[in-house]
Amino acid sequence: MVLIAAVYDDWGIGADGTQPIALKADRKFFRETTRGAAVIAGRRTVADFPGQKPLPGRQNIVLTRKGGELPGFTLCGSIAEVLALTKDMENVMVIGGGSVYAQLLPYCDGAYITKVHTTPRSDTYLPNLDADPQWQLAQILQSGEEEGIPYEMCYYRRA
Ligand SMILES: NC(=O)c1ccc[n+]([C@@H]2O[C@H](COP(=O)([O-])OP(=O)(O)OC[C@H]3O[C@@H](n4cnc5c(N)ncnc54)[C@H](OP(=O)(O)O)[C@@H]3O)[C@@H](O)[C@H]2O)c1
Repeated sequence: MVLIAAVYDDWGIGADGTQPIALKADRKFFRETTRGAAVIAGRRTVADFPGQKPLPGRQNIVLTRKGGELPGFTLCGSIAEVLALTKDMENVMVIGGGSVYAQLLPYCDGAYITKVHTTPRSDTYLPNLDADPQWQLAQILQSGEEEGIPYEMCYYRRA
């Protein structure tokens, strides 16, 4: 299981249920990196998907305690349920948000982190992998600048 997230300089990932700054280059990287994967999201993150529709070309798994049905999504009511469902799947990616990253980080052995070098106000954070000796920066995959904001796509793995 691997995680994919875009973080600001303070490892903030969002505010008020959305990403205050989202770069086109990162959206493209996300689409390409998650293509064909089973993606796991929390219900608040799904509420911020375009049209609240499942992401095409991926198996969409959503965590919610509310039950019910969401067309195009497989609903899971607990982390145990997610782990059982994805146990034999090869390509499983955790796509947020904050509460889901925090709960599934212990099960991840890799993390795609886009560093967006600016600091808008966030109310939701990812644990800082640079400050965690269990994680090491393995590779910088891409870098660039968009609308004056430098960014780089990094891959971290468990040390
Ligand atoms: N920068 C990035 O890469 C990135 C990526 C994704 C999201 N985000 C940001 O992250 C923020 C949202 O994160 P968040 O932490 O507020 O919400 P979230 O993790 O997306 O969703 C939280 C919801 O998931 C469900 N849930 C969580 N843990 C569960 C469990 N163990 N069992 C069953 N259901 C569970 C609950 O849904 P119910 O209330 O339905 O029970 C909970 O309210 C937004 O600002 C979003 O823009 C950023």
